[in-house]
Amino acid sequence: MSVSKEVKRITTHVLRSMKDSGEKISMLTSYDYSMARIVDEAGIDVILVGDSASNVMAGHETTLPITLDQMIYHASSVIRAAKRSLIVVDLPFGTYQGNSKKALASAIRIMKESGAHAVKLEGGAEIKTSIKRILSAGVPVMGHLGLTPQAIYKFGTYTVRAREEEEAEKLIRDALILEKLGCFAIVLEKIPAKLAKKVSEQLSIPTIGIGAGPDTDGQVLVLHDLLGITKDFKPRFLRRYLNLFDDIKGAVQHYIKDVKSLDFPNEKEQY
Ligand code: KIV
Repeated sequence: MSVSKEVKRITTHVLRSMKDSGEKISMLTSYDYSMARIVDEAGIDVILVGDSASNVMAGHETTLPITLDQMIYHASSVIRAAKRSLIVVDLPFGTYQGNSKKALASAIRIMKESGAHAVKLEGGAEIKTSIKRILSAGVPVMGHLGLTPQAIYKFGTYTVRAREEEEAEKLIRDALILEKLGCFAIVLEKIPAKLAKKVSEQLSIPTIGIGAGPDTDGQVLVLHDLLGITKDFKPRFLRRYLNLFDDIKGAVQHYIKDVKSLDFPNEKEQY
């Protein structure tokens, strides 16, 4: 039985029922109206307005530079397109760490100004007070553990996290803290599949994996990676469904040729 097919709109409660019934959750990023419309119509469960917009939309090397205003702009565009999916928005770097009042103010701006349904924050015990305060205002929170790209300068590398026992144990503790606080789901990024399975079995809230193996309760990818728009990013966990970089480049080259050769516009393409 498909829980998600029975509902008109995906909510945090629907995600929980999906976990309970064993139906996997599908999640993809989107950052603009046109793409979000396609992704939503295709039937995705969750759209993440990820701070990966900093990489794929703005061309930055990391997710750190993107601002709250820019995230709100992306989220508003996605919200205008989405009719069915749950829209989760990343709180960007520097808008929630170390100051829970600031964290709440950032979350409220996202909810009020974009119309999003939930926010996502990276980290465990160290951001507990921020998560608690945001939840106290009735804003649903998705957690994010494992490789947390906002901490890239602490890690120094984008390699797999929590291979060592100490880090794996901290991740399990953090996941339990996030669940106890009231997070509705947790993204697990780039951790060993065995660990992701263990965490997913211990939690009653859903886990959504990226590079975390098949046993999480759902999967998430960056849309531009799945579509092959990002050409040079080739982690082992990524499955590309299209090669749009080359397809779009080919179409543009075809157009240039048609313009130069006077083939475009033809008689039917004018008034
Ligand atoms: O920003 C993002 O796209 C993300 C996903 C990789 C989970 O956080």
